Formats: sequence, structure tokens, C-alpha cells
Amino acid sequence: MVAEAGAALDAVTRAGGEIVRPVDPAAGEVFAWFCDPGGNVLGIYQQPGLAQPEAAAPEDEVDLQKMLDLATPWCLHVAVTLRIPEHIAAGRRFIDLDGIGGRMAHTWGTLLDYVRTGQPAYEQVFGRPFWADLAAHPRIAADFDALMGPAGHGVPDYDIELSGGWATVRTVVDVGGGTGAMLASLLRRHPEVRGILVDLPGAVARSGETFTEAGVASRVTVTGQNFFDPLPAGADLYLLKSVLNDWPDEPTVAILRRCAEAARPGGSIAVLGGVSADEMPRSLGIDMLVAGGKTSTLKQFTELAHRAGLDILAAGTQSSGRYVVECRPRSTQPSSAGTSKRTPRTSWLRPDRPVGPGPPAIL
Ligand SMILES: C[S@@+](CC[C@H](N)C(=O)[O-])C[C@H]1O[C@@H](n2cnc3c(N)ncnc32)[C@H](O)[C@@H]1O
Repeated sequence: MVAEAGAALDAVTRAGGEIVRPVDPAAGEVFAWFCDPGGNVLGIYQQPGLAQPEAAAPEDEVDLQKMLDLATPWCLHVAVTLRIPEHIAAGRRFIDLDGIGGRMAHTWGTLLDYVRTGQPAYEQVFGRPFWADLAAHPRIAADFDALMGPAGHGVPDYDIELSGGWATVRTVVDVGGGTGAMLASLLRRHPEVRGILVDLPGAVARSGETFTEAGVASRVTVTGQNFFDPLPAGADLYLLKSVLNDWPDEPTVAILRRCAEAARPGGSIAVLGGVSADEMPRSLGIDMLVAGGKTSTLKQFTELAHRAGLDILAAGTQSSGRYVVECRPRSTQPSSAGTSKRTPRTSWLRPDRPVGPGPPAIL
């Protein structure tokens, strides 16, 4: 679009283009057609209202009319049309380029490096690996937590279907549970269960409101810690939701091992995110570019779980649409056939819905 059609036509001619249809002052939006040096026929558009003589803009103000000419990328139109600045001013912070939105947006620019090396190039852009970068920037870390929580990804309003049911579960530890949205949802559904939220100190410090609003605060304790250190011991269920997809194989084994060590005899570990059915095509996600994470097939994950001392109890897409893998520390399993390995239960696989990893893991 042009504000000054005459100048645009001059520019076309100077650049070797040929005006193939005369200018029609009565035309609507299309002002003129021209043929570029490559032989492509293109139209010069004029936005109604832009052709009027421009009012002089005060020197300290951005002159949008001038910026919205042919030389400016269309993204400026998009930003103005969607009123992005107003949204940022109103507190919709995920689109603020100085916040987590900017981190994610710029990270997509590292795609080529990632494809070439298989390693995230986040550190080259921001000076530190992703988690260290968040630790160094508490405001962006808070943004990230909010993005993961109800304000960003919505309320995880679903249950996790355990192979043995919830009757024997008294304590669940949500490992890397962010600000507690999933734990709150589970505790609301299972009034007899207590919860422990494990995450980095900043995240757990921001969890209070979630538990209070869900009416479960009296049944929750929080532990601000590194999940590569020993976890609260003796619980019935350890939950890893949208955590393992942030990590390559070795850290994944280390986190699983911490869960295996901590679980009570007969306890289990439920994994959502970071594992997909063997037959599912896997896609490239921001978690890979940002943190070098990966999503394993069930076959690959079974191998990682074994290295951590776990066997797979069940795996499949649940009624929530999420692909869930349930594991159990190997030594605690009944071994009727003389071996600790059991065939994973797959009855969660519902024939009436596509088998898949559920919603893509977004970090
Ligand atoms: C993608 S978020 C998922 C949060 C939550 N489970 C969910 O599903 O929304 C990953 C979480 O892992 C936490 N995390 C990353 N590194 C950690 C570490 N070394 N120790 C403890 N938590 C960590 C982050 O703070 C973040 O809350």
C-alpha cells in the first residue's frame, strides 16, 4: 500500500518495472498494475484515506503513514491492526518482546542452527542456557510461569487415569509442577489426597493463589528445589507433566531416577509430555529450540526408564486426550514370570479417538 501513488509509480519505473495498465483515479483500492523485471504482474494498492495530504506529525511522534509504505514489512500492519501495543499496555505480557514472548519469538530465529547442529542455539542469542537465563531474569521467569499456568495454557481440567485407580493414592508429588495448576486440579478431584509441589523456588513462591482459588491450599506443601536433587520421599505418585520434553536423554534419566528413588514401594510415576506413541509422527517444537528437549517414542522412553530403574506399567491416550505413561520402580513389582518386566497395559488406547500424544507439548 502506498500513501503517495505518484512516488510509488516512479519507484517502480526506476527499478525496471513497467506499468502495464494506466493509472485509474476512479479505481477502488488497486491503483495501478505493473510488470516487474521478472515478468510478474503486481498491483500497487492504495489504502482508502492514505492518499490525502499527510498532516504534519510532531517531530517526536512516529509517523505511521510514512512507515506504512512499500518499504515497510507487512508485520507493521499486523501489529497495528491487532493493536499489539495496546494489548501489551493492558498487561497481556506474553506478546511483549522484552518478556517471555520475545524470548520465544527470537528463539525461532535459531531454527537453522538447531537443524544444522541438533543443539539449541538459545545461549548464543541470550548469553545463557534457557533455565539459567530465566534464573537471571526473575520478571521473565514469572512470565514463563504465567504462560505455563492458567493465564497462558489454561486450566488443566482433567484427571489422570491410573492403572490401579486413585484409591490407594494418598500423596502425589508434582515434580516440576510450575505454579501448581495440575496439582490443584487433581486435588480438587481427589479430596482424600495430599499434594507436594516441587519446582524452582521462584515458581513455588508464585503458587499460593492457584491453591487458594482451588480451595486445596490446606492439603498442599511446596518445596522449592532442584529436581535433580533427592525428591520428597515416600509418596504414592510422582507426576512429571510437560517436564521431560524440556530435556535430552541423560537429564531425563536423572529426573526419572530421582522419582524412582523417592517413590514408596509400589508407588508409581506418571509422565505426560516428552513421550509419544511409537507410530506418531513427532514435530519440532519450541521446547527443542529453547532447551534442547525432545519427545521420545514409547520404545525409546522404555529404554530410558529402564536405565532409571523403572518399568512401564501402562501407556496410551487417555480420555483427556493426553498421552500418559505410567511407570513403577522395578524392584517393587510383583514378578510372577520370574522377570521384572511386564507387558505395558494399552487398554487406555481408545478406539474412538486418534491415538496420539495429545496437545503438543509447549515447554
Ligand atoms: C514446561 S514447565 C511445566 C510446568 C508444569 N508441570 C506444567 O505442566 O505446566 C517446566 C517446569 O520445570 C521447572 N524446572 C526446570 N528446571 C528445573 C529444575 N532443575 N528443578 C526444578 N524444577 C525445574 C520449571 O520451573 C517449570 O516450572
